[in-house]
Amino acid sequence: MGEKIRLDKYLAEMGLGTRSQIKEAARKGRIRVNGVTEKGAEKKIDPDSDTVLFDGQEITYVRMEYYLLNKPQGVVSATEDTLHKTVLDLIDGKRKKELFPVGRLDIDTEGLLLITNDGDLAHRLLSPRHHVDKVYYAVVDGELPEDAPQQFKKGITLKDGMVTMPAGLEIKEAGKGTAQVLVTIQEGKFHQVKRMFQAMGCRVTYLKRLSMGPLRLDEGLRPGEYRPLTEEEVQALKQ
Ligand code: URA
Repeated sequence: MGEKIRLDKYLAEMGLGTRSQIKEAARKGRIRVNGVTEKGAEKKIDPDSDTVLFDGQEITYVRMEYYLLNKPQGVVSATEDTLHKTVLDLIDGKRKKELFPVGRLDIDTEGLLLITNDGDLAHRLLSPRHHVDKVYYAVVDGELPEDAPQQFKKGITLKDGMVTMPAGLEIKEAGKGTAQVLVTIQEGKFHQVKRMFQAMGCRVTYLKRLSMGPLRLDEGLRPGEYRPLTEEEVQALKQ
């Protein structure tokens, strides 16, 4: 027998409405559990053995899983690949088939990658409309123009003519022909950070993602290591 879940949580997590909408639906007799109409929404459900119908339709429960991976270099952000190891090859567990990475990091990029089976959340985090900040640490070769931060703020015209949304650039350290910087972007165009520097005649030689919205990469996670998100982290991401 699996872990039991309250009926309202069960249906809310499966996208049937908010908990109060589900309570209301129960009151109206729209929910049946094991063939019996359930007028309240507090009943504890065992997803492995109970059958839940909403308006006559069976709703199966898929447990949501969330992992924070420190992606190492040399693995691809895909679920399958014929040539390279994928980020999912680094995750153990039985529900692995349903998991996918939220967005892509290049094969040579390290750092924070969220792995989940929650399609709704992934969609929200990736949509530029939702303005989720992604912060990268980069080492850049070449001479950055003095007004580089202002150019980032205005949006950079890439070599193919595409213009990026306004972005942040903070120079942490600059030496002769090289700089260490923090870049904040809200989009995820193909090779975006590398192409933003390319447009200024520079080259990114190292790239690591440090955060995505409220989620931060733990110093304690070495490249290739991962851990489940805490309940607080999941709630923060959903807000
Ligand atoms: N920008 C890039 O150029 N590469 C990444 O992996 C992520 C952002």
